[in-house]
Amino acid sequence: MRAKIIATGHYVPERILTNSDLENMVDTSDEWIRERSGIRERRIADEKEAASDLACEAAKNAFKKTDIKAKDIELVIVATITGDMPFPATACHLQHKLGLKKAAAFDINAACSGFLYGLSVADGFIRSGTYKRILLVGAELISRITDWEDRTTCVLFGDGAGAVILESTEEDRGIISTHLRSDGSMWELLHLPGGGSRYPTSKETIKKKMHYLKMKGNETFKVAVRTLESLVRETLEENKLKVSQLSLLIPHQANLRIIQATAKRLGIPMDRVFMNIDRYGNTSAASIPIALDEAVREGRIRDEDYILLEAFGGGLTWASALIKKKKKKMTNDQISITK
Ligand code: ACO
Repeated sequence: MRAKIIATGHYVPERILTNSDLENMVDTSDEWIRERSGIRERRIADEKEAASDLACEAAKNAFKKTDIKAKDIELVIVATITGDMPFPATACHLQHKLGLKKAAAFDINAACSGFLYGLSVADGFIRSGTYKRILLVGAELISRITDWEDRTTCVLFGDGAGAVILESTEEDRGIISTHLRSDGSMWELLHLPGGGSRYPTSKETIKKKMHYLKMKGNETFKVAVRTLESLVRETLEENKLKVSQLSLLIPHQANLRIIQATAKRLGIPMDRVFMNIDRYGNTSAASIPIALDEAVREGRIRDEDYILLEAFGGGLTWASALIKKKKKKMTNDQISITK
């Protein structure tokens, strides 16, 4: 028994926040943001929208590409650090919105690596025979946990959601392997301290801006490049593959320079690296499924292709997944995955 992705979809809010808009909000410049991060603009959710709303639109767009009905889904996983509420899980709100009456639902909190953590969990459930059809969504409104007076973070993030529908298959193609890593000793590099059981929300936590994301960007950058390179190498070695056999690398879109540095260290030419960071910024757990859906729509995933997904984020966490597209009779929108 194996798993395959039978459909992808994404949704980004309509409102665009450009670098020049940010120039009017904090002491920054379009040039600095483009040179240091590669970002030109990002999407910002409407004040009425929450994570499950974005997730719902992304999931509907995925359902449009398959015959599978919402009622056939047995499990809903949402990867997010900006869920609708501390509880219940955003996956429960999504399950209700989509009317997935048969489905279990839970969230995964692994920051920017969340979608790949979710993919690994979903793949495991399918391989064990527990579930046959799973909806996995990465959905984030980082704008809600952003300190809009902090120029070191507010220029980097955006809102959005990406979804995949997974189904079991007997074929021998698909997710070849998933690899999950973490190092909690470096949690302070990237975190949101307030509102949990350590520092419950109070006037004091709000005064100290503890309800906003904190990041030591420069240190995070160095760890990201180092760990992503070694994880991609491990992923390829475990599968006895060479870098040259990868037809597409879909990295988490955190920073153009992280993506370029990782690709250079690995010897992957940039025309085999998918990027959309210029349009969306860092959408955390939504970044890989949005990129995957755009890669599918742009016809960048062909038959027999090996595709490698990799991400790095708060925790610290990092993860990769090697997938191989199914051979025959598939539309461009269909990728099979096996483990
Ligand atoms: N505009 C202008 N100047 C700025 C801005 C800004 N928006 N932000 C910082 N600067 C200044 C700094 O104050 C500093 O000035 P100084 O030299 O006078 O002290 C200078 O620019 C350089 O700052 P650095 O932080 O060293 O800049 P760097 O080149 O490292 O780029 C960045 C910063 C873009 C944040 C980068 O470090 C980065 O992308 N880090 C990794 C982010 C990441 O991968 N996060 C993980 C995923 S996120 C998640 O899991 C939710």
